[in-house]
Amino acid sequence: MSGRRGSGLENELFGITFANPVLLAAGTCGFGEELSDVVELDRLGGFVTKSVTLEPRGGNPAPRVTEFRAGMLNSIGLANPGARDVLRTKLPWLRDRIRRARVIISVAGHSASEYAEVIGILDPGEGFEGFEVNLSCPNDTRLGGLPFALDPDAAARVIEAVRPRTQRPLIAKLAPNTPDFGPVIRRLEAAGVDGFTLVNTMPGLVLDPESGRPVLGAGPGGVSGPALRAIGVHAVWRAAEYTALPLIGVGGIAEGEDAEQYLMAGASLVQIGTASFWDPRTAERVLKGVERAVTRRPGGLGTLVGLARRSGAAQQPDAPAEAAVENHV
Ligand code: FUM
Repeated sequence: MSGRRGSGLENELFGITFANPVLLAAGTCGFGEELSDVVELDRLGGFVTKSVTLEPRGGNPAPRVTEFRAGMLNSIGLANPGARDVLRTKLPWLRDRIRRARVIISVAGHSASEYAEVIGILDPGEGFEGFEVNLSCPNDTRLGGLPFALDPDAAARVIEAVRPRTQRPLIAKLAPNTPDFGPVIRRLEAAGVDGFTLVNTMPGLVLDPESGRPVLGAGPGGVSGPALRAIGVHAVWRAAEYTALPLIGVGGIAEGEDAEQYLMAGASLVQIGTASFWDPRTAERVLKGVERAVTRRPGGLGTLVGLARRSGAAQQPDAPAEAAVENHV
């Protein structure tokens, strides 16, 4: 079975052992229970829950999702039951039912203090390993289209506020339209994050050709799916120039070879998002593909992670001198 001990797919990151590097992305698997009839979650390396905010959120007006030729556009508006309900009703299910998959709770907010409160409420709960701090949702209208991740000072204030509230790993989720990953990565590292997830969806707009009006109820949304893959791989590759902390790659992964690209760019784990909506078994298929790729190369996962960087492809004239190349395998 994929991910068994000694399969070459195991990876220890943030002090946690992941049986394999394939996870489900935030917003694509609810809190696990919703998908547990169709996906054997414990076969995967883990999954990231829906983003949790302090108060329950109903989300943005419908329609919230539309497809186009190269992918999907969503504006869900972080609909979720709120931190107290998640603590009471979702975490016990995770504690009792998930054995091997590593669970990461995604958290979001309108202010640094809201993130801190959410983490303060959830941290005493059981059934999960760490937090993915969603600094990059493009669909939160209260933030006026400028997620925290696009302002290194604002993003750092969030991490500074949440760091004292938990000993668990904090993984910052960054935005694909970051002009330069250096400043935000440096600030967040100094504030105490343990790793980075790259990338969230890319701001986009789909118009109805008849009416000229946005198809989504909220207007713009976030682009995911195949259109996001090259952007995400590039973001990981760039981010790896600035940090030696573990990176998690997400965006447009539907096959094993898509995941391999992220690993080669420097990601130690990958997350499957939109493709799971089209086929809930995508993650298991991707895992088999990664397993085949790892088996082909002696040395296990470590030979894949960062391969593109070691091959010299990263030696661009504009690459920063302090390029950090370290494998997390
Ligand atoms: O609209 C949404 O809930 C999207 C969230 C995200 O991309 O982080």
